Amino acid sequence: MTARIAVLASGGGSNLQAILEHFDRLGERRGGQVVVVASDRAGAGALERAMSRDIPTSLIATDKYPDRPQLEDVLREYSIDLVVLAGYLKLVPIEVVMSHVGRIINIHPALLPSFGGPGMYGHRVHQAVIDSGATVTGVTAHFVDNEYDRGRIIAQWPVPVFAADDARTLAARVLRVEHIVYPRVVDAVASGRTTLDNPCMLGVGAVVDGRPSFTLLPHEDSRLAENIELALGH
Ligand code: GRF
Repeated sequence: MTARIAVLASGGGSNLQAILEHFDRLGERRGGQVVVVASDRAGAGALERAMSRDIPTSLIATDKYPDRPQLEDVLREYSIDLVVLAGYLKLVPIEVVMSHVGRIINIHPALLPSFGGPGMYGHRVHQAVIDSGATVTGVTAHFVDNEYDRGRIIAQWPVPVFAADDARTLAARVLRVEHIVYPRVVDAVASGRTTLDNPCMLGVGAVVDGRPSFTLLPHEDSRLAENIELALGH
């Protein structure tokens, strides 16, 4: 049985797109299915991407849309098994976190616990990385708990920072890696291969002598490292 997934997004939805395309490629082997895309913003590109595939969408109640359903109601209406945050900028209400322990995941565009926490989103993250002088950043997929960016880490992957980078060029390089790592994490959690109690990492990376190197766990597909190298331009 495939897990019923809600994707929550506030922005363009390129990670949503990557997840949908990965599931297309997996076909019957996929561990889940995106059954609703919800947003706190009416203009979110993610909603358009969902509509173009006839995936139901939902606007969640905020100060701006007080008459919309609460997140909890949407998750109940669609019998959601797994909540996937993909550029969702609102804090998930504590009641939802408590009722979905181990069933909410997020992607963060840096190597947590560095460069995370309240206010660390979008280009602010990448600017902070550049300002720090770090030569390596990366992506982190993690379970969500009641603190911003503090839940248990599922997978991390390094991305080099180059001297000529600005926040825009760095964000683009990191995003390419997100598009490879996150769909695989979503599938691993949806299928039950990765759980909160079984913190096996999907893959771990390190930068050795200026070049990313990768270690994969047996259950992951062998093209992950190759795809990431391609995304990084190696
Ligand atoms: C990504 O960088 C993700 O790490 C962060 O928000 C961004 C969302 O991008 N949480 P998109 O909307 O998926 O294109």
